Amino acid sequence: VSDPDPVQVPVANPDGTARVAAAVADALEPGDLVLLSGRLGAGKTAFTQALARRLGVVEAVTSPTFTLVRPYPTTVGFTLLHADLYRLESTVEVADLGLAEELDAGAVAVVEWGERGRAVLPAEHLDVRFEMDPAGDATRRLITLGAHGRPWTDRFASLAADLPGVARR
Ligand SMILES: Nc1ncnc2c1ncn2[C@@H]1O[C@H](COP(=O)(O)OP(=O)(O)OP(=O)(O)O)[C@@H](O)[C@H]1O
Ligand SMILES: [Mg+2]
Repeated sequence: VSDPDPVQVPVANPDGTARVAAAVADALEPGDLVLLSGRLGAGKTAFTQALARRLGVVEAVTSPTFTLVRPYPTTVGFTLLHADLYRLESTVEVADLGLAEELDAGAVAVVEWGERGRAVLPAEHLDVRFEMDPAGDATRRLITLGAHGRPWTDRFASLAADLPGVARR
């Protein structure tokens, strides 16, 4: 079975990004991996904060600078791991983070600069890419979601069906 076509969602402002994040949060199941990509300031942390809020995380989610990965308890039965590979120097470090083991144990991981770890992270994941507005609008973003592998392809159609309405609301 091949992966479904990616879905593109234009959002006008941070609230739009937050609604997309909430829709993704609602689709999450234990063991899921979400890789976020996009340039500095594109909205990866903002997305993660909204996703965490939707999962009942009360702690403030900040970028895990020195640790690379930080766990947050949620109210939905799994731990949310927030990782940021921006400062990654080698993929060996990604393996050392033990994310694959944590996913196997039922955690959900959201990874900023996730493409830097793609080679050593599980192939089954949801891709979320953030692009700035080509015309230079400060708050518009194009968010592209792509499903890779069985756990996501099975759920992607219902997630994708929610998204355009979610973004426009
Ligand atoms: N539509 C939008 N979605 C998300 N953030 C937006 C949007 N419009 C404006 N912003 C602003 O852009 C900034 C995004 O910062 P954020 O830290 O989330 O980026 P990032 O992708 O995590 O960057 P980094 O690579 O440095 O970690 C915030 O200040 C946020 O308020
Ligand atoms: Mg960030």
